[in-house]
Amino acid sequence: MSALVEVPERIAVQSTEPGLFAARLQALFQSKPPALVTTGFRNLDDALGGGLMPGGLYVLAAPTSWGKSQVAASMATRAAEAGTRTTLTTLEDNPQQVTRKIVAAFTEEPLSEVSRTDYTDPALSAKRQAIYEELHRLPLIIDDTHDVDRLCNLLARHRRQGTELAIVDQGSWLTLPHGRGQKDMFTAACLKSRRMKELARGTGLALVLVWQINRAGSKKDVKPGLHDLRDSGSVEQDADAVLIITERVPTTVEGESLLRLEIAKNRHFARNKEVRFKSYDAESRIEEYEEVPF
Ligand SMILES: Nc1ncnc2c1ncn2[C@@H]1O[C@H](COP(=O)(O)OP(=O)(O)O)[C@@H](O)[C@H]1O
Ligand SMILES: [Mg+2]
Repeated sequence: MSALVEVPERIAVQSTEPGLFAARLQALFQSKPPALVTTGFRNLDDALGGGLMPGGLYVLAAPTSWGKSQVAASMATRAAEAGTRTTLTTLEDNPQQVTRKIVAAFTEEPLSEVSRTDYTDPALSAKRQAIYEELHRLPLIIDDTHDVDRLCNLLARHRRQGTELAIVDQGSWLTLPHGRGQKDMFTAACLKSRRMKELARGTGLALVLVWQINRAGSKKDVKPGLHDLRDSGSVEQDADAVLIITERVPTTVEGESLLRLEIAKNRHFARNKEVRFKSYDAESRIEEYEEVPF
């Protein structure tokens, strides 16, 4: 392999031992930094130090109905719009329902409206064409493989074909082969997050694993945090970064909420950074929201 930078003679190493620190230094000096993968949201990319690290496992956690699936689907669409080849694994909603949500977000129409529209109606031909023209080129795959082994094989294959970003919504819906991790939820959670970590690291995919926080034992006035992942096996430990939706408050406009998302852990960059989104629930859409304080 030709060197990208000249390594001075003095620090060149004779040993063939690849783990030798000097050899590791040489490898560092001879490589460019990894190209980061966009989340599709500039505020989130900035807070992550430029984007998602290839090979990194990112956990997106929040209590139920706080907007995890909204963030996951919006991230998949926005990243794909930016040219990132993306696979969204959607285990709660079926892929056709997610397709409806993406159309609702794109047209800024309520999902209920999209769901009852008869798109075969000839009167809608121009509208149908306009939506199709804009969305059909997205490099996005929407999949619903629950079985963790089959999913790992599938995503590894997608990676070989050029996929950069995988989003799995969500961990508790993944199923393990019979006999493994069946004993208790803690062990099952460990196995799932470990498999996702190995998949990311082994393939170089940037992997976002959505994780539901169970707040049954938490005080209502304490915002969600890493402490809420303590019952979730080794997910916090396995994650390179943990993104938590820490607040969801309705605005004065009906159907609109503000989301606060905190980077509670980050091995690659600063943590405790925070970004805000505005969510339009009926349209399954979120937008960056930075200007006005809460
Ligand atoms: N079609 C819809 N109309 C109105 N509200 C919706 C619709 N779909 C989702 N929501 C609301 O948006 C919020 C976020 O939903 P979702 O992203 O599915 O949450 P999570 O994945 O965290 O459980 C929830 O409060 C939910 O009630
Ligand atoms: Mg969800």
